[in-house]
Amino acid sequence: MTTLANLNQEISLCQDCELAQTRTKVVPGEGAENAEIVFIGEAPGFYEDQQGRPFVGAAGKFLDELLASIDLDRNKVYICNVIKCRPPNNRDPLPQEIESCRGWLDRQIEIISPKVIVTLGRHSMANFFDGTSIGKIHGTAQRIDGRLFFAMYHPAAALHQQSLRKTIEADILKLPGILAEASDTVVDTTEPEPEQLSMF
Ligand code: URA
Repeated sequence: MTTLANLNQEISLCQDCELAQTRTKVVPGEGAENAEIVFIGEAPGFYEDQQGRPFVGAAGKFLDELLASIDLDRNKVYICNVIKCRPPNNRDPLPQEIESCRGWLDRQIEIISPKVIVTLGRHSMANFFDGTSIGKIHGTAQRIDGRLFFAMYHPAAALHQQSLRKTIEADILKLPGILAEASDTVVDTTEPEPEQLSMF
């Protein structure tokens, strides 16, 4: 087994919070271990919990369309969530659930070592960007510890609010440029402060 498969196996046995009692399946994530881009959603929903795979419901279908719009194959990226188990009735993840899952996400990122991390939705954004709102920073990239983070609205937002669909479709078109920028960058983990990239 690969290092990531081993880690995901460990994640699938996790009992670190009370969601272990209510989940059907853990949803560690899926995609390429050498992915240049990692997409991080919020939490598994009903279908994800049934199948043990991320973004397989309606939001996932839209995510697939977004990826196709920039010629990205789902198998070439990595897709996971901030928390790996479904909260009952799809409620928002609790701070302590996010906290208990944080180590798993950190280890996934460390193994994959992507050039760009795309946060989907405000819970995912809040994990990496301090004191801001998704309305302000969607469609922008920031460098944090030498890695580029690109914030997007959650694909499910387009299903609830039709007007956001065009915004999300426009935002993803910036991703290839951000990846090209990241590919030109030497990763410097000593960089102290996040810095807004004004061109995005
Ligand atoms: N929403 C998410 O945030 N993640 C999924 O896996 C599915 C829906």
